[in-house]
Amino acid sequence: MPSKRHVLTLVTALALPLLAPAALAQGEPVKIGLILPMTGPFASTGRQIEAAVKLYMAQNGTTVAGRKVEVILKDDAGTPDQTRRLAQELVVNDKVAVLAGFGITPAALAVGPVATQAKVPAVIMAAATSGIVAGSPYFVRTSYTLPQTSVTMAEWANKNNMKKLVTMVSDYGPGIDAEKSFKERVLLNGGQVIGEIRIPMRNPDFAPFLQRVRDLQPDAVFVFIPSGPAASLMKQFSERGLDKANIKLIGDGGVTDDDTLGEMGDAALGTVTSFHYSAAHDSPLNKKFVEAFQAQAKFRPNFMAVGGYDGMRVIYKALESTKGKTDGDALIAAMKGQTFESPRGPITVDAQTRDIVQNVYIRRVERKGGQLWNTEIETFPNVKDPRAK
Ligand code: PHB
Repeated sequence: MPSKRHVLTLVTALALPLLAPAALAQGEPVKIGLILPMTGPFASTGRQIEAAVKLYMAQNGTTVAGRKVEVILKDDAGTPDQTRRLAQELVVNDKVAVLAGFGITPAALAVGPVATQAKVPAVIMAAATSGIVAGSPYFVRTSYTLPQTSVTMAEWANKNNMKKLVTMVSDYGPGIDAEKSFKERVLLNGGQVIGEIRIPMRNPDFAPFLQRVRDLQPDAVFVFIPSGPAASLMKQFSERGLDKANIKLIGDGGVTDDDTLGEMGDAALGTVTSFHYSAAHDSPLNKKFVEAFQAQAKFRPNFMAVGGYDGMRVIYKALESTKGKTDGDALIAAMKGQTFESPRGPITVDAQTRDIVQNVYIRRVERKGGQLWNTEIETFPNVKDPRAK
């Protein structure tokens, strides 16, 4: 018969290794690896999302389900090779529970295989090409998709007697999505696309392309240029006299980006775009969000900020559901199907596709209180990505 003391020793020896990791985990922070372009042509996206993540944490605390949350911010400069390397380092060295951010489509695409292999959820807060989410079962999206806004813009153009159209897009994933979805819907509605223009993604010089648009004399030109490089388009559009030639500029809301709308001046007045977020969105929640954001960051939030803010909400609520457990499959399951009111309006992370379902708004640039705003004039409710299978 073993003595009582022996039994106790045995139990302690067995129990310790089992208990130790769990006990330790209580004290360990949950790490979120946030990869953003903080430098380079897409740095405004990084600046917006970083500020939104900070605001979310300032408002909701840095402890979730009894665990401290720590965000590790890395700058990929919008270069997908760096994104991949940083994602790998964050997973292997820092043992992050979640990856997030990804300012442009190629960056998000580079993360897919890393997320899949490591079984780590990756929250797309910015990139907007339709196909990205299908690239890993660990992707969820809180930004938007180009087909969501482009199909909506095509519907509006048709209803507003714009029959002869030209598309002008940045020559990569989201631009090609925009061009295809817009054209498909225009043709379906009996309109015409008389020119399809693609512009280099990096360092675009809009002048020669705007001249081609002018020569084609459409009723309107539909544009997608990513946030950041889009900032100088409006000025060139009016400098080239396209507005005086009676050509309307319509497009993805990046063209009248809240981040730079204030600098666009009167040239932007009256421009109609289709988008999921306007800082002028008329809801008590958005008013509070914009006020708090501006007080903290000292600039106006744009759609990137809202993608980051809502992405943090999705991560926090998932951690609450798993009671602080960071198992990737459990976290992804808890992210699927989340429905809540965002500063942009009601949103859902589709439980099947893991992609975002949201209102898309038609907006017109107006001057109010001495500032330019994208005033929402029409709502297309609960739009799913039209290209989702
Ligand atoms: C993208 O690369 O997916 C992207 C970037 C900026 C935007 C929209 C989409 O404004």
